[in-house]
Amino acid sequence: MSTPMLASVRRRKAPTLLPHNEHSKENSFVDHKQHQRSFQFTRVRVLIVAASASLWTLFTVYGHHVHQRCWWTYLRRLSWRLDHPSSSSWMSSHSANQTARMILLYDDPIELYPPGRSPVDKLEPIPHLLNPDYNDLEFESYFGRYDDFERHIAKDDADLYHDQRRQFLYDIDNKHLRSYYDGYEDQEFTKDDCRSAGWQFVMKPNCNVFHELALEYSADQDVQPFLVEYLAHGYYRESYRFRNKYWKSGAKVRRNIVYPESEQMVMKHLRYHEDFPINIKNQRAVLREAVLMEALSTRPTFANFYGYCSTSTMLQAGNDFVHQVIPRRLKWQEDDGRATPQQLRRHPDPLNSFTPEQKLSFALSMAEGLAELHGYAKGVISHDDIALDQWVMLDNGNVVLSDVNNAMVLDWNETAGTYCPYDIDYPYGDLRPAEAYWGNGTATETVDLWGYGTLVFSLLTGLYPFYENVDQKANRKLILNGQVPKMDPKYQNRSLIEGRLYDVVQKCIRPLPEDRMDIFSVVNYLRETEQMVATGGEQSPLIE
Ligand SMILES: Nc1ncnc2c1ncn2[C@@H]1O[C@H](COP(=O)(O)OP(=O)(O)O)[C@@H](O)[C@H]1O
Ligand SMILES: [Mg+2]
Repeated sequence: MSTPMLASVRRRKAPTLLPHNEHSKENSFVDHKQHQRSFQFTRVRVLIVAASASLWTLFTVYGHHVHQRCWWTYLRRLSWRLDHPSSSSWMSSHSANQTARMILLYDDPIELYPPGRSPVDKLEPIPHLLNPDYNDLEFESYFGRYDDFERHIAKDDADLYHDQRRQFLYDIDNKHLRSYYDGYEDQEFTKDDCRSAGWQFVMKPNCNVFHELALEYSADQDVQPFLVEYLAHGYYRESYRFRNKYWKSGAKVRRNIVYPESEQMVMKHLRYHEDFPINIKNQRAVLREAVLMEALSTRPTFANFYGYCSTSTMLQAGNDFVHQVIPRRLKWQEDDGRATPQQLRRHPDPLNSFTPEQKLSFALSMAEGLAELHGYAKGVISHDDIALDQWVMLDNGNVVLSDVNNAMVLDWNETAGTYCPYDIDYPYGDLRPAEAYWGNGTATETVDLWGYGTLVFSLLTGLYPFYENVDQKANRKLILNGQVPKMDPKYQNRSLIEGRLYDVVQKCIRPLPEDRMDIFSVVNYLRETEQMVATGGEQSPLIE
């Protein structure tokens, strides 16, 4: 820093004793020059501060990852390779052991159990089906610039033990359950009891895929080929969008780029919250969802399903649907923001901007999705958690069901030859019928019809049912007293489609389960409506 510069700064700041008009021309020229210099100096100062701030950010945000993922991994690999020059071929018989040792960062071989205490010591070898021979499969992956990793897959004692245990449980299981770990395994059932269907507990996890993904959405994006973005959360889970960052050059640079569905996927996991531990109950719920979603993945009304592990699932990415149906008052507002007085003044004009044809198509698609569950070939399934945010919108404008983790596969009573009613676990919110809040174990799949009625209510109006009242507790009281959400009767006559959707709402949201339409009649009625619209036909009365 030169002395004149400092001087100029000091001089500029010093108060001048001369009134403005008494400055000579020469003086003003000098002032101007000084001013220019001081301006340059300020610019340099700002640049220095900005540069240090960015360096600081770089090191604090990225430094951790650089340290963990890159330098450390790289140096470790390098030193190991220098120590073992002969192991450059990964086919070498010696390398499997070495690799395992290197990954575990131990010099001595590891004993999983104390000598002679291994649980598999006394067990016979098991049939090849349960004990597939992986031939100590080992593979290396060199992905990205830094992140090369090796994985060693071998049948070790622990795997063997779990297979044996599974076989053992299977053999002693004279009931209907064949799950890997069964929370009810100590119960005895008879033909007179309500018994749950075994297929809902058959696991097909693909955990490796999950372990290859990182949720590090803010920092070192080089760990994987995806850009990760937090999407939203429901009651149990939060979801993240993974987008292929190599899709089209420049895709990661350009902002607001519209990624096609094929280049992304969504992963959901349990929320980090003390209420949602990774326990057998929550694992069961996700397992059931995985089984159902996988079975129904080919259906156009369900999101494609890519896999599951423990309490996480991976599936086709969709877009927000609920806030198109019920527009938010402000962007940042949560779902429970109800209509404003200004919005209500527009009522009974719908507050959303879907055309009646679109509403019909959404209503039909949602009904078809529920019909897949209620009419499932291996047993009736109740969705049990109907709300608009369980559906997401695809690029082609269709809506698909993407959350069934509360679903109940109804138990079967062989003696009575009937499905058994059940008790609802989480009777929250105000979108359910009275039997859900009674908690006396009388719920059946008909609870979904009430829920479906509330969906169509919102589609038509752009409002939540009970839009006049935000207090869900108070609304639940109303429901328990046999009241139903009121809808403006003007919707009956707005158009053919809206009139018929209004009818569906009235026939679904009814206090007594036996009075509600069933989902198959809803599907038929809406398909008929579509035909009537296509042919310009007359309105037919609702099938009683
Ligand atoms: N396939 C998807 N594509 C995009 N967003 C999704 C998808 N599935 C879920 N979401 C978003 O994540 C939220 C939470 O997922 P959800 O399965 O409903 O969790 P929960 O079981 O807690 O209800 C949803 O409300 C929705 O906003
Ligand atoms: Mg949900």
